[in-house]
Amino acid sequence: MNTAVGRSTRDPNRMLPDDRPVHDWYRFVLSFPPHLVRHCLDRLGVTPGQTVLDPFCGTGTTVVECKKAAIESVGLERNPMARFASAVKADWSVDSATLADYADEVARRAKSTLAEQGIDDWSDLPLLAEDGSIPASIRTLEPDRFKLLLKNSISPIPLHKTLVTLDMVDRLGDIKMRGCGRLALATGLVRSIGNLKFGPEVGIGRIRDDASVVDIWHTRMRAMTDDLQSLSTCNGAYAKVLQADARQAADVLPPRSIDAVITSPPYPNEKDYTRTTRLESVILGMIKNLKELRALKKEMVRSNTRGVYKADDDDATIRSNTEIARIADEIERRRVAMGKTSGFERAYARVVQLYFGGMAKHFASLRTVLRPGARLAYVVGDQASYLRVMIRTGQILADIARTLGYEVMGIDLFRTRLATATREQLREEVLLLRWPGRPEGKTK
Ligand SMILES: C[S@@+](CC[C@H](N)C(=O)[O-])C[C@H]1O[C@@H](n2cnc3c(N)ncnc32)[C@H](O)[C@@H]1O
Repeated sequence: MNTAVGRSTRDPNRMLPDDRPVHDWYRFVLSFPPHLVRHCLDRLGVTPGQTVLDPFCGTGTTVVECKKAAIESVGLERNPMARFASAVKADWSVDSATLADYADEVARRAKSTLAEQGIDDWSDLPLLAEDGSIPASIRTLEPDRFKLLLKNSISPIPLHKTLVTLDMVDRLGDIKMRGCGRLALATGLVRSIGNLKFGPEVGIGRIRDDASVVDIWHTRMRAMTDDLQSLSTCNGAYAKVLQADARQAADVLPPRSIDAVITSPPYPNEKDYTRTTRLESVILGMIKNLKELRALKKEMVRSNTRGVYKADDDDATIRSNTEIARIADEIERRRVAMGKTSGFERAYARVVQLYFGGMAKHFASLRTVLRPGARLAYVVGDQASYLRVMIRTGQILADIARTLGYEVMGIDLFRTRLATATREQLREEVLLLRWPGRPEGKTK
């Protein structure tokens, strides 16, 4: 593959302006771009009538792009926020005019409730007492939920306005309109209402003591209705998104139902997807307490040291892989030599083993759901960040897949990035596989 995939020349990972409709309703900062999905559809020879799976569906780039191309698709995603976003983005059956009326009414009522409390949506902190304390009438989350938020990720007044708006979103319209309303609020929270910044990891940026919420939400709703209106003549294709663990794909998908896989799985880069989505997940009530957060982390492929547990055993499946053992040993050797002793540093070698073990389980589980001859595209990147040990993710996943009976069609280069720590070029690649099927009766 050429590094310049599609029409984008400067940064191939950047979404093209024409692709904004629907994709932009809610998106991870580093989601792969829609034109890369189109490229993969082409590369794998997918045609209407076939079914595409994205087992790590994230914010739904694959399913939305398949729908635009009239190709049926299924997504699996374990994070409830990302699953919800993908499901809303994959459903274009909402009538745009009715949705616009709903949005107008929600905005009108939310503003009038705030006005009764003496709050203007664009106000400049009229409610703060002289000592800066927050009046008791300002709403907040119950303590168990509040403590899940990253510290200072949202200020009290914007949180109050958000909860008032959310009440109206949930009170009016039908379930689909509320879904659109909640998603618009989620994106508003991440981009303009809260204090988050992405660089690309989530952190706390400028603290906004106040922010417009209702108007921000309303603007996002208008963009959604415009997109739905412009797509109203497009047939789309059936798309569904299940909340499921990709390591257990065979539990939720029928045998031999998938013709192609296009996905960007996590990789061992310390990214914690439950953290990236924490603000909106907690405010929308998708994670209510620490117990639920832990349960969620346990069903995700291990890719960061905050999500590793004593009983984890995904690494059992890759014990005989000498390259993974070599990388884990090298990380551990450098850690000890450098006298690094924090919990994070001690856990890193194990994360790498658990990660590849989890991916091995995923590849194994997919085998029954793939049609013989199915083709697969995995967009993955090299890692060199921690203790400067290079991890050639695509190459290792290719070896794992081969041992499980897949054919490796190739590894295409998508783009390269310079690793600041090592000054080495890190490759982002598309690993291409083929599932040949197996002799009848053979299940293992
Ligand atoms: C690199 S992101 C995918 C981004 C996606 N291509 C998009 O368009 O937004 C990887 C996703 O895998 C999800 N994930 C991690 N472990 C999972 C598992 N065991 N089953 C399903 N999804 C999982 C994460 O929540 C995250 O959304």
